[in-house]
Amino acid sequence: MGNIVILTGAGISAESGIETFRAETGLWAQHRVEDVATPEGFARDPQLVVTFYNGRRAQAADAQPNAAHKALARLEAEHQGEVLVVTQNVDDLHERGGSRNLIHMHGALNSALCGQCDNRWEAPMQMHVGQTCPACTAPAARPDIVWFGEMPYQMERIFEAISRADLFVAIGTSGNVYPAAGFVAEAARAGAATLEINLEPSAVGSQFDDALLGPATQTVPAWVNDILKRG
Ligand code: OAD
Repeated sequence: MGNIVILTGAGISAESGIETFRAETGLWAQHRVEDVATPEGFARDPQLVVTFYNGRRAQAADAQPNAAHKALARLEAEHQGEVLVVTQNVDDLHERGGSRNLIHMHGALNSALCGQCDNRWEAPMQMHVGQTCPACTAPAARPDIVWFGEMPYQMERIFEAISRADLFVAIGTSGNVYPAAGFVAEAARAGAATLEINLEPSAVGSQFDDALLGPATQTVPAWVNDILKRG
């Protein structure tokens, strides 16, 4: 099967107890995106934003990687070709599940970023507004999360991997947020086969060659077994 690029979204962590964004009772039904996930929202009310991510950091720390995260780590360890996981998730369940070749394109809850000098360091469980940067001492610490209007991380490396992919798989993402929602079209253009794994077809579901529908903890381990059997 050669090189595999896997895009993951909130659906892969749902069965670990982490809320998704666009479910009826999901995060974006409880909070306004403009308030907690934009640079303007942070400038207006940093306390609200820091408190929101402190809550999410605590939730992620309590959660455990599930069978889907672990199956992707097994695929990376046992597959002949390259396996790259590109996640939109800001929890650390992929790395705790054993994935090593991993890109957090939307940032990470366990990282803090200096709004002044771009230095990064390990976020404390509870961040505070105006915390100082250990490098430049500016009181400009913020959660290391890519907010709407900001550029996702490592896009060059992601597009380079997609251009070499033989298979592109999207797991548990609703296909509403670009550039990630555009990866399937890019992969198809580059000649990769494409597969969507989700509870239901996503907003870009019709662009995939194939779909596996069902909960990730069942579909992902079954798919990994199948790939490893085929070699
Ligand atoms: P969404 O909440 O938009 O979508 C979650 C997807 O997971 C949906 O398509 C569900 O059908 C699917 N799903 C839910 N439970 C599942 C399960 N047990 N097994 C398989 N699939 C399941 O989350 P994302 O697509 O990840 O960005 O959202 C993308 C981005 O929008 C996020 O990274 C975040 C958000 O705004 C930022 O905060 C920058």
